[in-house]
Amino acid sequence: MKKTDFIKFILEKGNLDSTVIAKSKSIDNFPNAYKIILALKDSDFINIIFNPKNYGQIDLAVGDLKSHNLIKNSEFKQDAIKFINELAKESKLQFRFKENFSKFNSKKKKGNRPNIILGIDLGTTNSLAAFIENDQVVTIPLKNGSRLLPSCISINKKNTFDIGQNAIRQQVSNPEETYYSIKRFIGRRSSEFSSSLINAYPFKVDQSKEKLGIYSKRLKKRFECEELSAQILLTLKVKAERFLNQEIEDCVITVPAYFDNNQRVATKKAAQIAGLNVKRLISEPTAAAFAYGISKESSKSISLVLDLGGGTFDISLVRSDGEDLESFSVVAHSGERDLGGDDFTNALVESITKSIKKEHPKVNISPTIKILIREKAIEAKHSISFQDETEIVFPMLPSSDNQIVSFNYVLTKNNFEKIVTKQTELLKSCIKDFLELDKVKLHKIEQIVLVGGASRMPLFINMVEKLTSLKPFIDTNPDEIIAQGAAYCAQYTLSGVKEKTIIDVTPLSLGIETIGDIHSEVIPPNTILPTRKSKVFTTIEDNQKKLSIKAFQGNRKIASDNIFLNGFLLNDIEIAKRGVPQVDVTFEIDLDGILTVTAQDQKTKSKNSVKITNSLDMTDTEAEKLKEEAMLMAEEDVKKTLFSERYKELFIWKKIFDEINNPSLSSEEEFILDRIENCLDKIHKSGENPQLLIDALKKILEKFDDYDEDFAA
Ligand SMILES: Nc1ncnc2c1ncn2[C@@H]1O[C@H](COP(=O)(O)OP(=O)(O)OP(=O)(O)O)[C@@H](O)[C@H]1O
Ligand SMILES: [Mg+2]
Repeated sequence: MKKTDFIKFILEKGNLDSTVIAKSKSIDNFPNAYKIILALKDSDFINIIFNPKNYGQIDLAVGDLKSHNLIKNSEFKQDAIKFINELAKESKLQFRFKENFSKFNSKKKKGNRPNIILGIDLGTTNSLAAFIENDQVVTIPLKNGSRLLPSCISINKKNTFDIGQNAIRQQVSNPEETYYSIKRFIGRRSSEFSSSLINAYPFKVDQSKEKLGIYSKRLKKRFECEELSAQILLTLKVKAERFLNQEIEDCVITVPAYFDNNQRVATKKAAQIAGLNVKRLISEPTAAAFAYGISKESSKSISLVLDLGGGTFDISLVRSDGEDLESFSVVAHSGERDLGGDDFTNALVESITKSIKKEHPKVNISPTIKILIREKAIEAKHSISFQDETEIVFPMLPSSDNQIVSFNYVLTKNNFEKIVTKQTELLKSCIKDFLELDKVKLHKIEQIVLVGGASRMPLFINMVEKLTSLKPFIDTNPDEIIAQGAAYCAQYTLSGVKEKTIIDVTPLSLGIETIGDIHSEVIPPNTILPTRKSKVFTTIEDNQKKLSIKAFQGNRKIASDNIFLNGFLLNDIEIAKRGVPQVDVTFEIDLDGILTVTAQDQKTKSKNSVKITNSLDMTDTEAEKLKEEAMLMAEEDVKKTLFSERYKELFIWKKIFDEINNPSLSSEEEFILDRIENCLDKIHKSGENPQLLIDALKKILEKFDDYDEDFAA
């Protein structure tokens, strides 16, 4: 039976007063299902769960429209069953009778899993996701058995994205369109990067706007970093959905402790584009401390957590006053946001490149060769963590005189240590400075835990041991600890234990600019979140009518040396001699580290405030637009799942819509069209934009010839 016939049939057979096709929120485990409510009499209804996934099999429940509760009236039920039986006979469809939604739902749930909030480590180099099941942490496995998704995105020949390992594979053949280390750029200003740093990347980092972006030469299109990070998040979401066989909407994402407001806001936007609702952002060391405290038997009360990832180095001192999670707090954070394993790789790449040039001056170091050298350097860097010596071989390097040359490079442990002296020294001074902080000196460090893939480097482990006279604790998979911690945080968010459990701190000083470009601090660094602090400011001129409030973030004394966040004017302040008006400036930071600045004149009560989502931030509308585009550009694999799992019903509606949307509509067809429009209207009212989806789907349909097969009933 065709879908159109089916709907026509129901509408005819029901002899109905009214029919509503609605996507019901109560059908939690049937994201694709519609509830068709057939109004039989004044107050009686039959709800048919129309699940496009099982088109031939229609699930039925008998209910009351208003409360969505089931009608106990057995007489009516009998009538309904009779009606449906008749429907079944004529339509040759199977019906399943269900008396109770909850029974119905739980049967379908795989493993009876409750709502899951995914813990996501969105890393510079690798990203991964985890969740908690039966108090055990489960890291989402990827296709190839690995659990780390390289945070790499490339635009393939079909002009869609490839993500992770698929993207990495294209680094050699498609270097200009293979983007990595996006986390270093997200939410940051173009002016924060020197052109020499930017030019080291084989792809084009776009500094033409205030906010850094990535420019695809092939597509002649600029991507916002949020869009690219969204592709990573989308991939993790889809992998998790497949693994769990259920839709995932909520997540907790980790960000480096050093992430400023712009970077946090941008990370949230990336999640929004990926269709994920961020329950919390949590700093990576906090997540690590949780994971160690809970799952590793190493819960001393004062821990130094050192996280050496791909792009960032985070140091934090974590205190736990008891065994339970509620007693965890981060006493201090510090670190270096532009120092990580990638810098060790870069140093090695530079050294290898120099050696090649020295031996073969005519070798042309093209973008492709650059990538090849990088790949080999990473491999060697990893091996040298476990062995004393490794060899890098380049069997074929093209030189400008049309010759092919080979090059061998032996890397010893000592040699590597020399090459990365600068980076190691930087790490060392970071740790030393941290240990010298008053806040830190107050505590006696009892244990050191190392996290992040690059903390496997023996030179790092030895250095930490020397500096602290303590043997650091390192897990076999130090790169999975953050995601595990995020998963634990997610679980606690889910169980409602929230504010007390996850105590985070502000990494940098927050304040306003005052006369002479002075940064007047309102919230000092390392303040525990959430926080709200006020300071009184006044005027510098007589009869001043307005006060300009400019918020900055950073630890420098000169305001303009710090990061400008946003500003506003406070009008209608008390007209008086300079120094008389009293204006309270309040900085309030929520648990996600997002800041709201408010100023209020004590006398006139004039008030103004700004939520810091400044010029670097994109609006929700922009994010929504990018969300549609993200779906269009998503990796094939992801796309298929998305369509089949999430938008399948819309495909079907769209098909029906197309089938009947022709000039010779019968009155019945017009009626059906009306019903479908009604249905789309419902979706629209529930917050989704059907037109956008349908437009997006239309575009995709044009690209996919096989869609008929995929979505045919
Ligand atoms: N055996 C190893 N020896 C040395 N370095 C390693 C080893 N294994 C992984 N790494 C390095 O670890 C880094 C990636 O670590 P991780 O996956 O923890 O980073 P990330 O979480 O993506 O980065 P960040 O936390 O800075 O955002 C890379 O620089 C990688 O080369
Ligand atoms: Mg990390």
